[in-house]
Amino acid sequence: MSSPDLIVRRSRIGTVCGSLLIALATMAATSVQAQTYELHGGGISQEQIERGQGAFMANCAGCHGDDLRSIDSNAPDLRGPTFKYGWADAPLSEKFDKIVTTMPPGMGGSLSDQTYADIVAFILSVNGVEPSGEDLPGDAGALETYVVAEP
Ligand code: HEC
Repeated sequence: MSSPDLIVRRSRIGTVCGSLLIALATMAATSVQAQTYELHGGGISQEQIERGQGAFMANCAGCHGDDLRSIDSNAPDLRGPTFKYGWADAPLSEKFDKIVTTMPPGMGGSLSDQTYADIVAFILSVNGVEPSGEDLPGDAGALETYVVAEP
């Protein structure tokens, strides 16, 4: 039979372990907090992001994944390190051009330029760009002055 004293001690250990777990979980949650980005030169609107999400799911998610984590061995993720090193600090027109001319593979140019811009707005939004009032234009020339940057 365990003495009451032992029971108290056991439950204290339980409480300490519990608090430690909560502390660790909080630290982990903080360290994986998503990286966010800012868009300089213009904005993306909430409506555009929603249109882009629909178009992305229909035309791109089959390889690049619903959440932009690739589900095809050849297709890159469109978030995380590939976004950080491929999209940030360069004119947005570069990625826009590449997408319009080559995506989906073998079917470049199959969507309207505005739909491609909507998809790009959705990709930016998943990567932490906040919506503002205006739409991203479906025009590579205009997007030369748009740059994604770390805050
Ligand atoms: C059939 C699979 C498939 C589909 C569908 C697809 N992609 Fe890709 N995507 C790829 C592959 C494979 C690559 C890597 C080869 C390359 O860069 O050309 C790639 C590369 C990319 C890149 C990276 C290019 C770079 O240089 O950083 C972007 C951005 C991209 N795709 C966007 C899209 C968008 C937007 C759509 C929808 C309109 C789409 N993809 C549809 C397979 C696909």
